[in-house]
Amino acid sequence: MEAEEMTLERLIAEEVARAGPITFARFMALALYHPTLGYYAGGGVGREPLGWSGDYFTSADVHPLWGWAIARQLHQMWELLGCPTRFDVVEPGAGRGLLALEVWRYALERAPEWATALRYTLTDRAPAGSPLRSARERRLGAALAQMGVPTTATRWLNAPADAPSDAGAQGAPAAPAAEDGLVGCVVSNELVDALPVHRVEARGGELYEWYVTLETHREEAHGGRLVEQLGPPSSPAVATYFDRFRVPWRTYPDGWRAEICLEAEPWLRQATAALRRGFVLTIDYGDTARRLYTRDRHGGTLMVYARHQVGERPLVYPGRQDITAHVNFSALRAAGRAVGLPTAGFTTQADFLLRLGVREEAAAIAARRFPAADTERHTDRGQADYLRRGALRAAVATLLDPHGLGGFRVLAQHRGMPGAGHHLLGIAGAEISTRPRTPSPWPLRHV
Ligand SMILES: C[S@@+](CC[C@H](N)C(=O)[O-])C[C@H]1O[C@@H](n2cnc3c(N)ncnc32)[C@H](O)[C@@H]1O
Repeated sequence: MEAEEMTLERLIAEEVARAGPITFARFMALALYHPTLGYYAGGGVGREPLGWSGDYFTSADVHPLWGWAIARQLHQMWELLGCPTRFDVVEPGAGRGLLALEVWRYALERAPEWATALRYTLTDRAPAGSPLRSARERRLGAALAQMGVPTTATRWLNAPADAPSDAGAQGAPAAPAAEDGLVGCVVSNELVDALPVHRVEARGGELYEWYVTLETHREEAHGGRLVEQLGPPSSPAVATYFDRFRVPWRTYPDGWRAEICLEAEPWLRQATAALRRGFVLTIDYGDTARRLYTRDRHGGTLMVYARHQVGERPLVYPGRQDITAHVNFSALRAAGRAVGLPTAGFTTQADFLLRLGVREEAAAIAARRFPAADTERHTDRGQADYLRRGALRAAVATLLDPHGLGGFRVLAQHRGMPGAGHHLLGIAGAEISTRPRTPSPWPLRHV
């Protein structure tokens, strides 16, 4: 068969026919991250999966105010770190780079001193050199150039999983080395929910795992339909996962299903390995283990998205639809504790954005850009301003919606911060130290 005729369905079917049933995590890894045909590689056709013309939108699509708020938090982190002459923002899973754009806009317009210190690194598993990644790099590059961002201050790196050993030779630099010791923040939005998950089910007090296999009568053709099959846990890590997080799953009724992401903890360790001093900000849907893995949520949280519709069949159309599951933030906190990244705060996106002042900023934007909304309602201009202000308010409401984006969680972790009694702007009462509160000689700004 010619390489160009290969489809992801066929590739997965061949792997199953050759090696036997695969875990759902393996299926998801191929469906989302096969280097050419995977969903996040452009599905073999360079298609952009994100945004209004893609399959789903993220906070960055709703309004630039979201990026403004994150930028404000990053700016305060720089101040808490003592305004170092270099401050690195590393964004794994940067997608189209929409957050980078807003962070730069904020820095240039509101905090020029910070802008001179700022270096922004984007990584993503859309492979370097692929049509999808090249298009993203071109678009972001053009927008940043127009804003006057120095070209050397922003760079794209390969995500470790797609970084070949000869990445340097291909002109794609590898991730920064730990000994370089970054000072700054590792920030991600909706990355962890896109990591492959195992699917499990409780029956009779035992934990089973769902595998992906081929319908038996079609196996010979290598082109059969992919179906689920129950089996024992694929590894001790799966078998003991819920016990690690004290989830009382044995008391749950038969048929209780859930997802287990074994990649989240290694991801956190790897993504933060180079961070010498600073913060990790992880934004996503999910919750602590005990609130995520409840008896009531018996169907799990796996979701499938295509063209802004929620689907129910994760095994169909591999590479052409998104697959995602809620994040167990307890796992990220545990992984952080183990590598010297204690939690500085955990809150909802709504709370985070409100504390950072999105409402006030939206009101300021409205007064500046849509002044006729109140004063000239009887004119065309007044009507237009009124409608635009309504759209702005609707966008803010969408970002704050407790049943939607506002219900996302924000986890802040920190490393190497001196003293105590310091707080992040976006998280109420978040002590940036595990030590008892003591007076500190440390300069405080914005607190
Ligand atoms: C749901 S999208 C979110 C994109 C963007 N952060 C946004 O909010 O619009 C998840 C992104 O994470 C990327 N990704 C997944 N695993 C990754 C990893 N280990 N390192 C870097 N990026 C990763 C995917 O390629 C995908 O573009």
